[in-house]
Amino acid sequence: LLLVVASAREYNNKDIITTTSTISRNDFPPDFVFGAGSSAYQIEGAASEDGRKPSIWDTYTHAEKVVDKSNADIGSDQYHKYKDDVKLMHDMGLDAYRMSISWPRLIPDGRGAVNPKGLNYYNNLINELIAHGIKPHVTLNHFDHPQVLEDEYNGLLSPKIIEDFTAYADVCFKEFGDRVKSWSTFNEPNIQTLLGNDIGMFPPERCTYPFGVVNCSKGDSTTEVYVSAHNILLSHASAVNLYRKTYQGKQKGQIGITLLAMWMEPLSDSLRDLAATKRVIDFHLGWFLHPLVYGYYPATMRKNVGSRLPYFKDNESEQLRGSFDFIGLNHYQVFYVSDVARSLDDNSRDYALDTSAWVGGPPAIRVLKNTKEFLDFSRLKGPELPLAPWGLQRLLEYVRVNYKNPEIEINENGSPLLTSTGRNDTKRVEYLQVYIKSLLTSIRMGSNLRGYFVWSFMDCFEFLFGYTVEYGLYEVDFNDKDRKRYPKLSAEWYTTFLTKHGKER
Ligand code: NOJ
Repeated sequence: LLLVVASAREYNNKDIITTTSTISRNDFPPDFVFGAGSSAYQIEGAASEDGRKPSIWDTYTHAEKVVDKSNADIGSDQYHKYKDDVKLMHDMGLDAYRMSISWPRLIPDGRGAVNPKGLNYYNNLINELIAHGIKPHVTLNHFDHPQVLEDEYNGLLSPKIIEDFTAYADVCFKEFGDRVKSWSTFNEPNIQTLLGNDIGMFPPERCTYPFGVVNCSKGDSTTEVYVSAHNILLSHASAVNLYRKTYQGKQKGQIGITLLAMWMEPLSDSLRDLAATKRVIDFHLGWFLHPLVYGYYPATMRKNVGSRLPYFKDNESEQLRGSFDFIGLNHYQVFYVSDVARSLDDNSRDYALDTSAWVGGPPAIRVLKNTKEFLDFSRLKGPELPLAPWGLQRLLEYVRVNYKNPEIEINENGSPLLTSTGRNDTKRVEYLQVYIKSLLTSIRMGSNLRGYFVWSFMDCFEFLFGYTVEYGLYEVDFNDKDRKRYPKLSAEWYTTFLTKHGKER
């Protein structure tokens, strides 16, 4: 693998595109799904059009909280340009498009009346995808629940969310389930709760302890992060239960959940670092995967958090266990972990990433101690992530061995670059090349991998970073009122990979 990385660096742009045809989708199982993704808030725009009401992200961005003080009111404007976009997806050879539904567009008041124009939009988009042979893989909640539910009962912090989320899911299954065969209930709840209800960097900005520049004025970090995660798990289980009982038999779709899954590597072989790594993995991934597979939280969490960690009642535990047909994993990078608990003066958190380092970055960054360092992309001379596909392989192996080899979709993988990089995104081509190639090794090792989605199909608003960082295969000109799209080198590369020696479409 190191050789692949080293040699990829030697090629010029044209060579990169040519060499990548040494692997093609034909090397993968015939039913393996290749796609690219986006999410409603990040891509749709039309924030106050046709009856849509604010989500918590509208409120947050309008208060100018992200780095460039931007918002996604217009964003990439997919709401108006979806037909053009679906054509681009088709020309790229995508099997599937990972998208999400905006809850406040479909049910603007959070519960009750369905917005006919919202319904119409998603019907049109889904029909357009299907007419072009592209499967919609739909996420129900990608961070953007209706603001009204936050105002009314603190959103994810109240068990009331379970009923409202299930009713919203019910509308989606009923209206779109004849055509949507892949559902994910929540996107990255592990980071959503952490950032929103512990360190206050996401809406609803709840946190107790100072964290870098974050102003902690409300909430209780010692409990709320666990309560919101708990309610998400119960909402997920309830929606899956409904789907299985009422829809799945007829609609024959699959349902799962999508987790952020960074890989944690011990910084040394010391027992302390190994134990710290296990702890971090449990607090990061096991927090959700354990209840989903076994029906209860990992022992390390129970031990460290004690009675502040909520319990599942027997019937809840039973409903959770096995409540998925697949697990979506969003993987971007590796962190090194070392146990420095004794030298931390901030003992307020149960699950700090201890000290961590980006692979290829400076050693031992204290991730949870210093927001600035964590977010300071300049340390890496640009935001691009170091190539560490072995991290994805170890992650998949860990999940295979510890979690009964579930069906896995890589729901997100991709490389952030500074927006100024433009279309000549050779770094992204290198990144995608080595990561996609590495999937073959994991499949050979026995992982039950069934799909892979590049994040993102096109440039869009990035949570926290606005338009300063881009992940798209397509560039979007945000200065142009038509939001014109241009293929980047990576779009050409992925198209070659998918179509040149690929299966017939
Ligand atoms: C995580 C989120 O799911 C997605 O919305 C975000 O844009 C990417 N990963 C990149 O940070």
